[in-house]
Amino acid sequence: MTATLPEPSATLTTPVVEVNDLNVTFSSKRGRVTALDGINLSVGQGEFLSIAGPSGCGKSTLLKVVAGLTRASSGSVHLRGSSVSGPRRDIGYVFQRAALLEWRNVRGNILLQAEMRGMDKAKAARRADELIEMTGLTGFEQSLPHELSGGMQQRVSLCRALLHEPDVLLMDEPFGALDALTRERMNIELHRIWRETGTTVILVTHSVAEAVYLANRVVVMSPRPGRIMEVLDVPLGKDRNYGTTMEDPVFTQISSRVRDLLGATHAGD
Ligand SMILES: Nc1ncnc2c1ncn2[C@@H]1O[C@H](COP(=O)(O)OP(=O)(O)OP(=O)(O)O)[C@@H](O)[C@H]1O
Ligand SMILES: [Mg+2]
Repeated sequence: MTATLPEPSATLTTPVVEVNDLNVTFSSKRGRVTALDGINLSVGQGEFLSIAGPSGCGKSTLLKVVAGLTRASSGSVHLRGSSVSGPRRDIGYVFQRAALLEWRNVRGNILLQAEMRGMDKAKAARRADELIEMTGLTGFEQSLPHELSGGMQQRVSLCRALLHEPDVLLMDEPFGALDALTRERMNIELHRIWRETGTTVILVTHSVAEAVYLANRVVVMSPRPGRIMEVLDVPLGKDRNYGTTMEDPVFTQISSRVRDLLGATHAGD
């Protein structure tokens, strides 16, 4: 059954991620590009925030600044109250393009996370097995990245990001290369993981349905320079069901608002 009772806004809880007046301008020989301008965002503990916006509006840049991989030109980003000034290890990151080591097989790529963090080997191996099964990679444990499809590579990348059960998970279009059925399965699985672990998730996606189905808030961004156009609450409760939730009038209403906003930017879904 789909619950439609509004939940207390997660922003009232301790912010896990706080972005204040963020501006990111890239300078190169070809000139200056302002990717993000005046971004203010606060993400509460256990929130699932989706970000949608046209191509080139700075979504990946925003995630990279939160992860400490790209520097803010001005403004600030805090993670659990501490200023982000360099790469952060206390997060999980699924990149837009699966960044796998070509010489390591599926299992080796997933377990890289455990090696980097000095995790207990037996525990990490058990968790890797669970994730491999969950993402339908069973039978490919020994395969090298070039022997996998783009979608399978992305699933390996997802397993690696989830291995250490991160407190904050940043996902940049993680399911873009998957076929519709696998994407649906991954959406359901991600929703389950989020519910069960209380992980704070920020997901960038081009799919309006995915954005609304998974999130408790959806951020819609404008074309470059990326600004936040609107933040929509998704009062659908945590008990979501792929079939019935998408028929819920609240879901339909919010999705069509997101589409309208994106349509106004000539992006669409
Ligand atoms: N390292 C960089 N150096 C120079 N310009 C950059 C760099 N990274 C991103 N940009 C520019 O910043 C803008 C935002 O890029 P970004 O990758 O964040 O967009 P996006 O919203 O993730 O797009 P997409 O949906 O296509 O992935 C683009 O104009 C891009 O060219
Ligand atoms: Mg991107």
